[in-house]
Amino acid sequence: MARVGIEKLVKTYGEETVVDHVTLGIEEGEFVVLLGPSGCGKTTTLRMIAGLEDITGGTLTFDDTVMNNVPPDRRNVGMVFQNYALYPHMTVAENLSFGLLSQRRPGRRRDVRREIRNLVSQTAELLEIEHVLDHRPKQLSGGQRQRVALGRALIRQPSVFLMDEPLSNLDANLRDRVRMELARLHDRFQVTTVYVTHDQGEALTLADRVVVMNEGKICQVGTPAEVYDLPADTFVAHFIGTPGMNLWTLPCEHRAGEISLGDSVELSREFGLLLDASGERVTLGIRPEHFAPVDDVKHPGAVVTIRLELVEHLGSHLLGHGHVGEAEKQPVVVRLDASSPLRQGDIARLATPARSVHLFDAESGSRLDFRDRALATA
Ligand SMILES: Nc1ncnc2c1ncn2[C@@H]1O[C@H](COP(=O)(O)OP(=O)(O)OP(=O)(O)O)[C@@H](O)[C@H]1O
Ligand SMILES: [Mg+2]
Repeated sequence: MARVGIEKLVKTYGEETVVDHVTLGIEEGEFVVLLGPSGCGKTTTLRMIAGLEDITGGTLTFDDTVMNNVPPDRRNVGMVFQNYALYPHMTVAENLSFGLLSQRRPGRRRDVRREIRNLVSQTAELLEIEHVLDHRPKQLSGGQRQRVALGRALIRQPSVFLMDEPLSNLDANLRDRVRMELARLHDRFQVTTVYVTHDQGEALTLADRVVVMNEGKICQVGTPAEVYDLPADTFVAHFIGTPGMNLWTLPCEHRAGEISLGDSVELSREFGLLLDASGERVTLGIRPEHFAPVDDVKHPGAVVTIRLELVEHLGSHLLGHGHVGEAEKQPVVVRLDASSPLRQGDIARLATPARSVHLFDAESGSRLDFRDRALATA
């Protein structure tokens, strides 16, 4: 097991910078998920850690050893890819043992073979693939193939596990099962893991810490709760959550201590501390799941008037789609109790508790934070 240090990591292809000064420290035994949209540089970052891609700039360390120029087979990493990459002509047992045989382990040949056989059967038992050890990959289901790929990485007892969208080829049911298996394996072996996905649900359920990336840069690093509760900017706010956070950029008005945004949002007084002047535009963020009928919220941070244009019933809850604002219409999605009486065409007054109201700078998209303001005025 190893600590992984990434310091100002850069990757360029010709003129294009695809990983742009990424800095991240990963603790021993930690499960870190790189999350971001397609093309943001997740795979490239992972491949640089594995040694499959040259590092253009910056430093990569395992524990305190610089790894930049160490060849991949000397890094002791286990990799699992999206497309399994099993050897089609080998049985499951041979696929599992192949990496070990090519490692040239010390000891008498016969002892080494016995040791490898034991490791194969232990790994197969752990992943519940003992009964298919003599099958070839094409005779396996998708989930079994993925478990063989995991087993092949696991059996080498790597210092670092690197996984690139390992669940994306599985159907929804199987994905949930293999995901839970991954969590269980990590609990048991505590191998430092870097896991790449563009699925925020996967990221939030698996990660100790989530690294949200966009356009080659890190937007935020935090626990699942931190990136959900305190998104650092509008990108993270919208990317995390399904549906993503509602974001409305509106002019702010202070009048006799009352604060309004546009013609359909009222904010509680405490937010005045974050807003400099009347007329300033600000971006307000509220998650769909954080609206409730105005009478049900004791200390509302925001009260919003919404015109509902479409109500979708989804069994456990309903999603209302509509607009906020008359002069400047902004789209909104609200998630309400299935028992809510609201209907298409209704005009609803909904409220959000103060802790679920987010404000962002309208220009930069950065979170406006009480702590920052306190520091700025100190
Ligand atoms: N060999 C290459 N040559 C040129 N550009 C490349 C190369 N490999 C990747 N890129 C570019 O680098 C950027 C990042 O690619 P990367 O594969 O890291 O994205 P990703 O975050 O893994 O996306 P996805 O979720 O689609 O897998 C993309 O714009 C891609 O086109
Ligand atoms: Mg990728």
